Amino acid sequence: MKLKYTVLLSAICLWGTCGYGIQLSAQNVPSLKGAVGDRFLTGVALNVNQTAGHDTCALRLVKRHFNSIVAENCMKSAEIHPEENRYDFADADKLVRFGEENGMAVIGHCLVWHSQLPRWFCVDEKGKKVSPEILKERMKKHIHTVVGRYKGRIKGWDVVNEAIEGDGSWRKSPYYEILGEEFIPLAFQYAHEADPDAELYYNDYGMDGQAKRNKVVELVRMLKGRGLRIDAVGMQGHMGLDYPQIEDFEASILNFASAGVKVMVTEWDMSALPTIHTGANISETVAYKKSFNPYPEGLPDSVSQAWNNRMKEFFDLFLKHSDVITRVTAWGVTDDDSWKNNFPVLGRVDYPLLFDRHYEPKPFVKELIENNSEK
Ligand code: XIL
Repeated sequence: MKLKYTVLLSAICLWGTCGYGIQLSAQNVPSLKGAVGDRFLTGVALNVNQTAGHDTCALRLVKRHFNSIVAENCMKSAEIHPEENRYDFADADKLVRFGEENGMAVIGHCLVWHSQLPRWFCVDEKGKKVSPEILKERMKKHIHTVVGRYKGRIKGWDVVNEAIEGDGSWRKSPYYEILGEEFIPLAFQYAHEADPDAELYYNDYGMDGQAKRNKVVELVRMLKGRGLRIDAVGMQGHMGLDYPQIEDFEASILNFASAGVKVMVTEWDMSALPTIHTGANISETVAYKKSFNPYPEGLPDSVSQAWNNRMKEFFDLFLKHSDVITRVTAWGVTDDDSWKNNFPVLGRVDYPLLFDRHYEPKPFVKELIENNSEK
């Protein structure tokens, strides 16, 4: 039965109608970006399958509903700069071109991050940590080369990702171990040198927590105090049915804004599955158990309703603060694409995104579009 359905669905896709969300391709058809209007950019992360043009249903949906894109993986240093003397720009070039061809704001993610960092970056041939001078030189070269390549074509960069722990201390990343907190202002300086017109962001998860919030505010003030450019703080916004508290998320939006920067929700998704507590560090996954994967065949109505209500509450919060929020980006197109299917537990079936596995908008998205489209 399931196979029959999948075959039928693929056939429908091949004929060019990939679900309600994208049946119409003309301009001015009801869309998410149309419903949001110019309150903030409506963004989505694309994977390499999509930028390579293979997932045409997803691409049609992206063109219809979103006006900003970001690379889910292909601009991270391990992908774009796998060896010291080798860059691989193929996927990133495609992403940027797709954004330009479709008049979208293209966001760069990310320049300095402890994860998806190629092994060579912080060590010498013997595997020993490099000196501060060498690391500075490598960072500078990496940032100048990557940002420089897309100069004038990328609206803004996540310059530093996840440098702060939940308790407000600096993460002991290789960058930190070698350069101390100085790696952060240096990264912002190099990015600005490479493209003076690009916006520059600090991006992190768990931004609802008070300790991290305070440290981020301190960081923004430190950068500004040194005369460095920082335009916005990115709140990743990886959520679950029981976290974060909406009041805490709102308090962070307001605190960041009062430090003199804009706010972006940069990687929005909401797991519909039981929350499994890990350090939220993406290298920490948990062994699979059947009880962790309760809805492999579809979400029960009650859970789906709870999920939709909570997503709507957050979306309403974003709209309420659209004077300071400049972009809201979903971390993937459909549920099938989501990293949450494999994090923090490998092999679960999750339902965290705005469009389902049949390319249909979730009920809260549909409602949002219907209530806001011009009559
Ligand atoms: C995730 C991607 O979605 C996965 O495909 C990849 O395997 C790991 O990284 N914070 C970030 C994103 O800033 O880059 C991460 O993306 C999710 C957590």
